[in-house]
Amino acid sequence: MPWIQLRLSANEDNAEKYSEWLSACGAQAVTFIDAQDTPIYEPLPGDEIVYWNNTVVMGLFDASHDMDKVLSYLKSIHPDKSNMAYKLEQLEDKDWEREWMDNFHPMKFGQRLWICPSWREVPDPDAVNVMLDPGLAFGTGTHPTTALCLTWLDSLDLKGKTVVDFGCGSGILSLAALKLGAAKVIGIDIDPQALQASLENAKRNDCADRLALFLPKDQPTFKADVVVANILAGPLRELAPVIIEYVASKGKLALSGVLEEQAQQLQTIYGEFCDMEPVTVQDEWVRLSGTRK
Ligand SMILES: C[S@@+](CC[C@H](N)C(=O)[O-])C[C@H]1O[C@@H](n2cnc3c(N)ncnc32)[C@H](O)[C@@H]1O
Repeated sequence: MPWIQLRLSANEDNAEKYSEWLSACGAQAVTFIDAQDTPIYEPLPGDEIVYWNNTVVMGLFDASHDMDKVLSYLKSIHPDKSNMAYKLEQLEDKDWEREWMDNFHPMKFGQRLWICPSWREVPDPDAVNVMLDPGLAFGTGTHPTTALCLTWLDSLDLKGKTVVDFGCGSGILSLAALKLGAAKVIGIDIDPQALQASLENAKRNDCADRLALFLPKDQPTFKADVVVANILAGPLRELAPVIIEYVASKGKLALSGVLEEQAQQLQTIYGEFCDMEPVTVQDEWVRLSGTRK
């Protein structure tokens, strides 16, 4: 959708008031920028917002908005009346959130697995192909942590196995497991948008009947042959008892989202329950893996 941006010159005394005016006139978003490039840090919760002395208040309107009406109203209430300092700009018609799509191409992981953007041609129709549109969720395969987990899944014999994907994001790991032969996958994520993206991707890959998705508050009790959790070191530490509980005896576990310097602590925590293998490193990220004792 094309947008029109209206910039109003302001100062610390009137910036908040102008922002309210722009919102009242129908702006979809209002932001402040410093006209002199003085940095101001993000206020902490509860802090009073500090404005620069020379501020520009910007209102974003959709292109069909009647800007003549907005301007004549603002001029009628502005202290400088018809000398009100403003600038109108037409913004390019770009789908900003989706611009990355042009740079997302099919990628191969391990021996058999391809992740293919759903809007592109499949390079090898005989391979194990996951058709993916991550939407607004994390997980395209371009991040080293996802790549480490995908390569690990490809290295396993998943035929008929059950899998838990903790922090499923776009569903990329769940779908890779299903396409590699898993019988059933449970995907868990704290973000409802991630569950939505996972479900849509499962439908896209004709796997929705084998993928069950849950918010953590609803997550079921289950013992899986394979558990993969690509979250971050902090949650992996805190959730260790929950994640371990999902791994069946002799089941396989992989953890990622962990930086090299954080790996040893997690090896120790999970090593109490699993025989851990040496970590695998890609860029500065690692994957821990092991087998439940
Ligand atoms: C790094 S992304 C991984 C996405 C995908 N599995 C992949 O490998 O690309 C981490 C995901 O974990 C989710 N997450 C973070 N903390 C979580 C928690 N405590 N419980 C469940 N999911 C969590 C986030 O919402 C996010 O979707």
